[in-house]
Amino acid sequence: MAQTIVITGLADGMGRDVAKLLAQSGDSIAGFDVDEAGINSLREELKAIGGDHLLTTMDITDRPGILKFRDQVLQKYGKVDIVLSNVGIGFFDPFEEVNLEKALKCLEINVIGCAAIFQAFIPSLRKQGGGKLIAMSSLVGQIPFPFESIYTASKFAIEGMVDALRLEVAPFGIRVALIEPAQVCTKFAAKIHHLPPEGSPYRERAKRFIDKDNELIKTAPSCGQAANIIVKVLKSDKPSLHNQMAFRDSFFMLINKWLPMSVRDNILVNFMDIKV
Ligand SMILES: NC(=O)c1ccc[n+]([C@@H]2O[C@H](COP(=O)([O-])OP(=O)(O)OC[C@H]3O[C@@H](n4cnc5c(N)ncnc54)[C@H](O)[C@@H]3O)[C@@H](O)[C@H]2O)c1
Repeated sequence: MAQTIVITGLADGMGRDVAKLLAQSGDSIAGFDVDEAGINSLREELKAIGGDHLLTTMDITDRPGILKFRDQVLQKYGKVDIVLSNVGIGFFDPFEEVNLEKALKCLEINVIGCAAIFQAFIPSLRKQGGGKLIAMSSLVGQIPFPFESIYTASKFAIEGMVDALRLEVAPFGIRVALIEPAQVCTKFAAKIHHLPPEGSPYRERAKRFIDKDNELIKTAPSCGQAANIIVKVLKSDKPSLHNQMAFRDSFFMLINKWLPMSVRDNILVNFMDIKV
């Protein structure tokens, strides 16, 4: 059955591919992104696919804007079935060198952005007797990664927040789920990778980390493959709380749970080639 699905950050990457897949199967897409050119070109693509979609340019930190968007969506479609909180930005820096104002912005976009879109639509989901809230988390929402302390903090926060609100909304028929990719072939990582300045005691290890990340991305799922998996979670009647994209990601999460910390640290440090 065709559904109405809200997606944040759908001008590029996984959000864009998910929107196209859903539109192809007859669903209506309502979403926004800061990238105006990306929104305009997606609007044209969705028009060519067919259906009735509502796309707008907006920053996820615009909280009055989110409420206005929510009202427009509900007025147009009457109800929303699924909300996919997809906006997320990366953050790469040795912790000692993190600019805290930039860190705060990242947490606002990644965590409060997710809270804002979920909060906006919960009343209508509750009143209609159910729906789904799905958040893009990450492998680093379970396994902390060095040089990504702020991004890790944001995804741990999303995991905790979503797991906590799960039991609050369950009696209203609202199901929640997290999607936890390790790496997906989008422009996401390239946007944030940068070397610490000359003379930084972290520069050499950070360079090896970036090189390894760039090598790993070559074998990561494509954006289209990831979108297919996300759509399966969105369309599942009873999605699991935790959803990974590849066997390697699930394997890492499993060993992260059961191995002693010293062994886990060794695996991570060797895997990311950041041994001193
Ligand atoms: N790509 C990966 O390797 C990977 C891995 C794990 C988790 N994730 C998560 O998946 C989600 C999507 O990632 P992606 O790789 O498709 O990213 P992407 O960078 O390709 O796309 C993200 C979209 O969000 C938009 N956006 C960014 N800041 C915004 C803001 N303030 N307001 C509104 N829109 C904004 C961007 O313009 C872009 O269109 C993110 O939450 C990310 O943390 C990605």
